[in-house]
Amino acid sequence: MMNKVTVIGAGNVGATCANVLANYDIIKEVVLLDIKEGIAEGKALDIWQSAAVNQYSTRVTGVTNDYTKTAGSGIVVITSGLPRKPGMSRDDLISTNAKIVKEVTENVVKHSPDAIIIVVSNPLDVMSYAAYKTAKLPAKKVFGMAGILDTARYKAFLAEELNVSPLDIQALLMGGHGDTMVPLPRYTTVSGIPVTELVEKDKLDKIVTRTKNGGGELVALMGTSAWYAPGAAAAQMCKAIINDEKRVFPVCSLMQGEYKMNDIYLGVPVILGKSGIEKIIEIDMNEAEYQLLKDSAAAVKTVMNVLDDMKII
Ligand code: NAI
Ligand code: 2OP
Repeated sequence: MMNKVTVIGAGNVGATCANVLANYDIIKEVVLLDIKEGIAEGKALDIWQSAAVNQYSTRVTGVTNDYTKTAGSGIVVITSGLPRKPGMSRDDLISTNAKIVKEVTENVVKHSPDAIIIVVSNPLDVMSYAAYKTAKLPAKKVFGMAGILDTARYKAFLAEELNVSPLDIQALLMGGHGDTMVPLPRYTTVSGIPVTELVEKDKLDKIVTRTKNGGGELVALMGTSAWYAPGAAAAQMCKAIINDEKRVFPVCSLMQGEYKMNDIYLGVPVILGKSGIEKIIEIDMNEAEYQLLKDSAAAVKTVMNVLDDMKII
């Protein structure tokens, strides 16, 4: 059994991730860390007090910026950073969150040199890159969560349209975690039945558009960004690693020649197991699909260039 997973940032996403992980009951301890005095301790205590009710043994503890308590973590999930507010794009967050991700990653690596790092902070693709550059670990151990969330939104909208269980929808979504993400209807089925046979084109187009704007829809409703699905998605990635499940998920990964791209983090399907990203799967894309992926990569590259110019990393 893995001993410890640390979640940095005890805000909406971090606390939810810790809670879902604890409920899986597959690790000895979850450590929540935040810079705000008392918040991680308080949320960890609250989650831990649900153990007897929810029937799990995972110990949940919280600390204020004390990385010695995170030492020896097998996985560290980084959720620290500002969330989006109405009218803010994910990219507006770049300089504040890059400084936070850099500082946090340095501390993480110092105390848990063998950890796998899962980045959640936005702008996701570029923050994953920032963590990779800072951590100086192999790329298979530093990656980002977005694809599971974006695909889950896509599945939820399709399930609603078709009045079927989201469990029976298999789907693939690639590219950056932004408005240029690439849902792939050609790779979407309902228990093996191509979705294009079940949903009319204009309805499917609307679902694809709603998926791309899925994060913004929630920001507009709540005044801050989502947390239940993002926290659960990050916890699901941890579970795949802890249990060596070899799950196939879209994960924000460093391209090193895959999809004819280099030196950029982008969402692609991977096999996730105990060593982190065990393989990047290169699917066959038609010209139109590949063009969308290239457009998405160009959008991510623009933000990467902004970060490079800031000379933070
Ligand atoms: P939040 O504001 O509820 O929580 C963030 C926490 O980070 C706060 O408690 C804050 O005190 C803490 N923090 C800030 N600087 C820190 C530092 N240096 N060390 C430790 N903790 C620090 O925000 P929320 O909603 O939890 O979102 C967190 C991040 O995740 C945001 O950047 C958001 O945009 C991103 N996000 C990404 C998603 C994805 O799909 N990748 C989905 C949803 C949110
Ligand atoms: C989301 O997709 C804002 O990235 C955040 O909910």
